[in-house]
Amino acid sequence: MKKEKPPAAPDRNFMSRCLSLAILGRPSPNPFVGSAVVFANRIVGEGFHHAAGKPHAEVEAMREVKRKYGTMASHILSSSALYVSLEPCNHQGRQPPCTKAIIDAKIPRVVFAMKDPNPKAKGGAGALRKAGVNVSMAGRELEAKAKAINAPFVHRIRTGRAYVTLKMAISKDRKVAGGPKDSPYISSPESLRAVHLMRDKAQAIMVGIGTIKADNPRLTCRMKGGHDPLRVIVDPRLEIDEKARALKNKNALVVCMKKAVERKRKKLAHLRSRRIEVFFAQKESGGRLALGENGGHLALGPLLSHLAQIGIDHVLLEGGPRLASDMLRQRLVDEMVLFHSPKIIGGENDRKLAGPIRHIMREGRANRRLSLPCGSDRAAFSVLGKENAPFWPAFFAKE
Ligand SMILES: NC(=O)c1ccc[n+]([C@@H]2O[C@H](COP(=O)([O-])OP(=O)(O)OC[C@H]3O[C@@H](n4cnc5c(N)ncnc54)[C@H](OP(=O)(O)O)[C@@H]3O)[C@@H](O)[C@H]2O)c1
Repeated sequence: MKKEKPPAAPDRNFMSRCLSLAILGRPSPNPFVGSAVVFANRIVGEGFHHAAGKPHAEVEAMREVKRKYGTMASHILSSSALYVSLEPCNHQGRQPPCTKAIIDAKIPRVVFAMKDPNPKAKGGAGALRKAGVNVSMAGRELEAKAKAINAPFVHRIRTGRAYVTLKMAISKDRKVAGGPKDSPYISSPESLRAVHLMRDKAQAIMVGIGTIKADNPRLTCRMKGGHDPLRVIVDPRLEIDEKARALKNKNALVVCMKKAVERKRKKLAHLRSRRIEVFFAQKESGGRLALGENGGHLALGPLLSHLAQIGIDHVLLEGGPRLASDMLRQRLVDEMVLFHSPKIIGGENDRKLAGPIRHIMREGRANRRLSLPCGSDRAAFSVLGKENAPFWPAFFAKE
């Protein structure tokens, strides 16, 4: 096989800049994309895809050239190279095709990092070449980095399901809860900050009823300018207290067994009257989700397909250990971020949780790709799905 030549140093630097720009966006269900216009070996315009429905990264970068250089812009663009972390799109969606904008601006050279996996949008490189543009890719290493920051997007396109990151904090003595009252958190302040960044970048948080009962968490993103994700609560017997903090605003979805709603029709009606979605297992549920039941537990794959259909491509599975271990058993976890704390909590281990915690740690170790310091903790990243590299390290490194 022909060996690919590594990209020249300037190509690498310009594309690395595109990747750093890309992760500033909140583009779901679209991919993270960054772009730079390079004239005479210098970046003269840059941009990224901020959000679905907003202009694409290439257009943002070209607009910056126009803002900065006014009447000179068309001359500059027609002698520049455009770097972009994803193959320019070739279809009319909520935004016009980027290929057309590039051809109209007479940009002679385009370098991109990864091909567009979306069957609706792909084919941009071919269309540009046909119009006489010199198009190349930036090499394997940068392609891998671009794919890593778009692992949830690629996964959703490939499988039709939302990508799941299991996140959990574990103490040195393998506990997940139970710190002293004056310092109840297992994690370092840096890890806690990282969790809010994770809640901002994922579009849904998923927990089991055990966690709601034990901690009554708000499950919000408390980062400046952050967005609250959808809260998904797995509650097989519909035990949730209607005053639970996680149900405070209506952006919540409770998943339970059919038996439970048959017994608790009043509670179901009351939750739905508050516009809290309640899904339960049955084949035909009036437009609602059809979930299978298996050995007294729900088969949660269809839930992830439903989330993908409503535009959620990334779910942060925050536990607790029993739900997390069950999701691992169902092979529905794609990535793990385990925050290993040096703290010792002490006391007896909860017998119900010991087995699931061992299972989670075993899977984490077996599939680990790298670990990074997070204050006094270590964040360990593992990949379980087909995507090759973990999504989160690029975001942690930016912190
Ligand atoms: N350190 C951390 O990062 C972290 C994060 C979250 C929670 N926690 C701690 O974890 C503890 C709670 O853990 P937990 O394991 O008891 O709670 P959990 O995992 O949040 O919830 C357990 C519940 O989920 C149900 N469940 C799990 N998989 C299911 C499926 N496929 N279908 C239907 N139901 C399913 C279980 O049903 P069954 O009863 O039928 O088995 C059980 O009722 C708390 O102490 C909390 O503070 C720690």
